[in-house]
Amino acid sequence: MCGIIGYAGSDSDAIDVLLDGLSGLEYRGYDSAGVALSNQTLHVHKREGELSALESALPKSEYENESVGIGHTRWSTHGPPSDVNAHPHTDDQNRVAVVHNGIIENYQSLRDELTAAGIEFESDTDTEVVPHLISTYLADGIDRETAFRRAIDRIEGSYAVAAVFEGTNTIYAARRNSPLVLGIGNDGYYLASDVPAFIEYTDRVIYLDDGEFARLSPSEVVVTDADGTVVETSIETISWDPEDAGKSGYDHYMLKEINEQPDALRKCLRGRLDELEGTVDLESVPPIQASGAIQFVACGTSYHAAMYGARLLRDRGVSAQAFLASEYDEETIPVGGESVVVGVTQSGETADTMRALRAANRAGAKTIAVTNVVGSSAARECDHVLYIRAGPEIGVAATKTFASQQAALTMLACQLTENISRETIQALRDVPDLIQTVLDTSNARAVAETYEDADAYFFIGRGYQYPVALEGALKMKEITYKHAEGFAAGELKHGPLALVTENTPVFALVTGDDERANKTIGNVKEVEARDAPVVAVTDGRSEVERYADHVLEVPGAGGIASPIVANVQLQLVSYWVANRLGRSIDKPRNLAKSVTVE
Ligand code: F6R
Repeated sequence: MCGIIGYAGSDSDAIDVLLDGLSGLEYRGYDSAGVALSNQTLHVHKREGELSALESALPKSEYENESVGIGHTRWSTHGPPSDVNAHPHTDDQNRVAVVHNGIIENYQSLRDELTAAGIEFESDTDTEVVPHLISTYLADGIDRETAFRRAIDRIEGSYAVAAVFEGTNTIYAARRNSPLVLGIGNDGYYLASDVPAFIEYTDRVIYLDDGEFARLSPSEVVVTDADGTVVETSIETISWDPEDAGKSGYDHYMLKEINEQPDALRKCLRGRLDELEGTVDLESVPPIQASGAIQFVACGTSYHAAMYGARLLRDRGVSAQAFLASEYDEETIPVGGESVVVGVTQSGETADTMRALRAANRAGAKTIAVTNVVGSSAARECDHVLYIRAGPEIGVAATKTFASQQAALTMLACQLTENISRETIQALRDVPDLIQTVLDTSNARAVAETYEDADAYFFIGRGYQYPVALEGALKMKEITYKHAEGFAAGELKHGPLALVTENTPVFALVTGDDERANKTIGNVKEVEARDAPVVAVTDGRSEVERYADHVLEVPGAGGIASPIVANVQLQLVSYWVANRLGRSIDKPRNLAKSVTVE
């Protein structure tokens, strides 16, 4: 989704900081980009397409003395990708330039009002109403900051907004339901939607809260509330190493992040498991007596992790259910303080998940955020937060965060139910090494090459492997742009079997040798009888290999670790199919990393 960067510094290098910042935001997904540099006059440059298009259009040498500016990567919502629709947007006298993330819900009525007053709009965007509103107030003789605040007061919906004006070196910013973080550097102040935009310059940050405003100049940063009263802020230090956010020699972030899973999991588990005592200690989540239901809300990959978490709780005798956050409504919200709602969200900013969590908060449920991003909206607005500690994930397709979510949810289920065995602790401890074995020995690349021309890919699994089947299909469609679907193995015969042909490989997740595994083997036989190629993703305990054309091995002792390990094989198959097809793996078309609209 859209990304914002801003810099007010004493060094004359704003243009470099802005371009670095935009590059740090690319992973969020975008289709155009732009910058505005402010001083005596405003200079705005914007281009549809990749950042390189903007860079080539920028007369950089003309801006060597500029030290203040804002930049933006746009992911289209109102109007197609184009130079005109790209941000920043200005008023008709070029006095103010504005960048915005989010959706202005009342933009049409504001646009009608401004058009009736004689203002001509250039773009199709909702954002353009903001510079025109500001300009109207300036024309009434109102000072810049008050004009900015009045304009923000008029807009409804979600926003992170930053504005620069001609004739001043100050940036004004505000947020509501869309992230904005300030960076405190030695030679100036930064503003961004997300820390990777400025992590190479500073690791000291202030998270803006909803309803707050910020004023940044080369000499100070001031945060105020809606009434203009100065808010006391605390500076936090980010523990990410800038190197963590680089590709470290891998062709793609996705491959790097797949390979980082053993390390990410070790960090997730560190200090939280006590083998001798047989206990889990999630310092940030106190023991909660969940006498009511436990509900999970999440989207996409995080929803698959949530399904896994809900099953863990059900298997421990607790009534638990995972909901797609976008489908979670007032009727599904448990009433009273006994119920627990767990929001699973890598970014901590997903609009659908935040809406569901806010509704749960209002209904009086205890809320827990399971997230990767320190200081994110989910982390700040839930009663408790469990960090998955996966480190920055830049590839749009979630990989290591899924594994870390599964591990964190396993520990959470143990803590919430006070039900943990030494086997579970051992299984969790073994996961990083087992994944390393998969990474070192996987034949996923060969399997991908065999099936790169397939018409479609199907994934089947039961129990804990069902969410992994869904996740395998989601990953495949996201990065290869090919049709892929995941099914509960038992559902195949209730319709999807009609799709199966000799050109639709079926990936069957079969671990263990219990009744579930044997039933899935029955489904595999149904597929095989219809000449579809079968790829068994298996620990070799059952006889599924007999019916398979290829095997992807899942090392280890089975149990709760298997789904986490098995998924890595599927990530690798998708990666290599996408690689063979020459897809834009880290930034798949139409997708965004942080989905901040509902
Ligand atoms: C898929 C993917 C998305 C996200 C979803 C939720 O690879 O990344 O499906 O899982 O948009 O995002 P978070 O976890 O940030 O709430």
